[in-house]
Amino acid sequence: MLLDQFSPLAADGNTPALTFAALKGGAPIALDDHAYLRALTVEDVGDSYVNGMNDPEVHRFMTSVRQNRQTWQSVADYVAANMESEADILFGIFVHNQLRGTVRLHAIEWARGSAHVGISLFDKSIWNQGWGRRALAVLSDVAIGALGLMRLMAGIYRNNTSSRRTFLAAGFVHEPASDSSDSYDVCEIYVLTANNSAVLTTGRNEIV
Ligand SMILES: CC(C)(COP(=O)(O)OP(=O)(O)OC[C@H]1O[C@@H](n2cnc3c(N)ncnc32)[C@H](O)[C@@H]1OP(=O)(O)O)[C@@H](O)C(=O)NCCC(=O)NCCS
Repeated sequence: MLLDQFSPLAADGNTPALTFAALKGGAPIALDDHAYLRALTVEDVGDSYVNGMNDPEVHRFMTSVRQNRQTWQSVADYVAANMESEADILFGIFVHNQLRGTVRLHAIEWARGSAHVGISLFDKSIWNQGWGRRALAVLSDVAIGALGLMRLMAGIYRNNTSSRRTFLAAGFVHEPASDSSDSYDVCEIYVLTANNSAVLTTGRNEIV
């Protein structure tokens, strides 16, 4: 099924329930021939996910994760909470059929057409191979092209060079006026809007 077969934002401007439900229900979205995104369920939580979240190199810039040691239960609770939420969807990034990381659309405000995006590849063996950029680009196409969202935002610590470059490579642009600071560092805001994205241009988002 192709993404453009999904119904756009409902006529009343409210939640496009069918599309969101299909993704929540586990419809996989191709990244390429060997990789896809799929909404995570508790059954997907295993040692590599839990151990990866406890890796200091992985969680260095993930405030809430690094503050609490992760266990199977804490990760499963997080996955379940995302699954139940109408404002969040947590996708697994599966490469060669193995779960390697997550990309999340969260704090979705359907009425405003906005959402936040976060990404974590907990399998460091696939860093720097373009998977982060691909996952963000495809998720953005889904969020804008299928779910009808207009504005995606990501907060990235200024010294997280790999993340900043990855969001830029996926088409996000820095919006300095929205930056803020906390005790850790400056948090820069990167945005992608329906106007500056190139949605559904290549057909690469075929749902497998
Ligand atoms: C940030 C993260 C998602 C990047 O994913 P990735 O798959 O390794 O990134 P990609 O291979 O798609 O690279 C995308 C861009 O970032 C650049 N990049 C990747 N790693 C980099 C690094 N360590 N230093 C500098 N640039 C880097 C790439 O060169 C590429 O830029 P280019 O297109 O200009 O060449 C991954 O490292 C990660 O999950 N880190 C831990 C969790 C985290 O920090 N998440 C983000 C929180 S905001």
